[in-house]
Amino acid sequence: MPNSPRLSSLYRTAFVTGASTGLGRAFAGMLLDEGVQVWGTARQLTRLDGLAGKPGFYPVALDLKDGAAAERIFVEAAKQAGGFDLVINNAGYGAFGDFAATDFAVWREQLEVMLINTARLAHAALRDLRARGTAGALVNISSLAAEFPLPFQSAYNMTKAGLTALNESLMIETTGTPIVILDVRPGDYRTDFEGSVMRPEGETTAAMTRAWGAFTRMMQTGPAPEHAAQALRRALCKRRSGTVRCGRIFQAIIAPLLARFAPLTLKRRIQARYFDL
Ligand SMILES: NC(=O)c1ccc[n+]([C@@H]2O[C@H](COP(=O)([O-])OP(=O)(O)OC[C@H]3O[C@@H](n4cnc5c(N)ncnc54)[C@H](OP(=O)(O)O)[C@@H]3O)[C@@H](O)[C@H]2O)c1
Repeated sequence: MPNSPRLSSLYRTAFVTGASTGLGRAFAGMLLDEGVQVWGTARQLTRLDGLAGKPGFYPVALDLKDGAAAERIFVEAAKQAGGFDLVINNAGYGAFGDFAATDFAVWREQLEVMLINTARLAHAALRDLRARGTAGALVNISSLAAEFPLPFQSAYNMTKAGLTALNESLMIETTGTPIVILDVRPGDYRTDFEGSVMRPEGETTAAMTRAWGAFTRMMQTGPAPEHAAQALRRALCKRRSGTVRCGRIFQAIIAPLLARFAPLTLKRRIQARYFDL
């Protein structure tokens, strides 16, 4: 972006969950290149070895399965950093299965990790910003799935729609304050996500096989994560709350635009076609 500021002039410190691979790794790398100090998380510290040598990077072990522990770890890191000017709630995973045929514990755990405990970190982040009375940004990584649900990933869709609703709520609540809320909705990106999707045991129907095939094809041919990091960088430079859709032009621009004008029944039919259903 011509004449865009270096991000370190706007954000001194950042906390990024899920910084070991994929989008989180690209966000952390972009911020470090911009001179921002980054506290990046993974469940195991060894997963952060690739970033650990970089100046200004602080590795943090954090598992979102335990919300109370995750909050304690965040607060400790914030003390060490002197507060976070930017928090990116990025960590997440997929779980693929028929809703009724899959043990409910699978869905419940995903809701806890990706919605409840992620919202808990958002809560802690905003308290920290408010207590310091400083300008800053909270970024919750939602997904295009908040608008176009992925078949057989029902809890994933719920978590992303929930996060988007939280982001929208916070954008209204923070009106007139120096706090920026970004609702980032990536389309399909080429990350480790597809490889780490949980496939709980159970019957795989022909429809599930077709949907899985379409899903993996789209992920494998998506843009590299650095593309999303640049979209985030541009949004952060603006210092304005809002929605950031990124990815292929069809997913990020054309489909959401068409969906706004199409009747819901038509939208659902086209979406089913997209997934070979
Ligand atoms: N890739 C896409 O196309 C796409 C599209 C839309 C939205 N997104 C969203 O973008 C975010 C990043 O996804 P990605 O594609 O970059 O996936 P990824 O490459 O699989 O990375 C996921 C990250 O989340 C962390 N993580 C997973 N489970 C965790 C848990 N229980 N507690 C703490 N950290 C955990 C992983 O850390 P470990 O090292 O501990 O495994 C890893 O760093 C997710 O929220 C995803 O839903 C991705």
